Amino acid sequence: MEKKEQLYEGKAKKVYATSDPERLIVDYKDDATAFNGLKKGTISGKGVINNRMSNRLMAMLEKRGIPTHYVQELSERETLVKKVSIVPLEVIIRNISAGSFSKRYGVEEGIVFETPTIEFSYKNDDLGDPLLNSYHAIALKLAAPEEIETIKNYAFRVNDALKAFWSTCGVTLVDFKLEFGRLSDGTIVLADEISPDTCRLWDAKTGEKLDKDRFRRDMGGVEEAYAEIMKRLEEHL
Ligand code: TMP
Repeated sequence: MEKKEQLYEGKAKKVYATSDPERLIVDYKDDATAFNGLKKGTISGKGVINNRMSNRLMAMLEKRGIPTHYVQELSERETLVKKVSIVPLEVIIRNISAGSFSKRYGVEEGIVFETPTIEFSYKNDDLGDPLLNSYHAIALKLAAPEEIETIKNYAFRVNDALKAFWSTCGVTLVDFKLEFGRLSDGTIVLADEISPDTCRLWDAKTGEKLDKDRFRRDMGGVEEAYAEIMKRLEEHL
């Protein structure tokens, strides 16, 4: 597959056209941002880890019947994916209180929910990705009602599969963010990435954070945490 012109550069990835109009190449960077781009930095080796981890997890999800954009890993940082038009929603599932949930509702981190929660935010940097509910998403024509149902269903199934997998690695899946896209025929598939940038992953025994919160909160040991979580994945998948 021939890599053609760059179509887009995001905060953590670049996207290229290919000779096939239905395929794109994503190229993972080491750049890290937080707080809607206000905080900027580099996490050395992150692109390699996120590329590999996201691909392995998406392949696992495909086996469990969840369609994804993943096609083939091309190199350490590059992956061939199906071309989608991204549904402009960030879909967040939480199993345990943390982050913006704790802040918004004034509760400590670490409360284990009896049932996972789902929330959506409008993927719009200028507005700071505001929280919205499914009625708002439909009113704004971000997604059709049937698409929202499909997305919710997939998101909870992804949670079940990821929670079970990370648990075998001695890791607690606290929360994560997913993005979905539409193929040219309208089929909804899981897109973007699943990585320590987009998940909160805590060591099941010690509670140590093994994700991007170490960068967001200036905790240090960022590269080491990414390497550790990748090692756990490689040992168990
Ligand atoms: P939050 O607690 O800050 O809302 O984050 C919830 C989850 O979503 C957490 O695992 C980190 C992930 N996330 C992203 O992937 N991208 C984002 O822009 C934000 C704000 C969170």
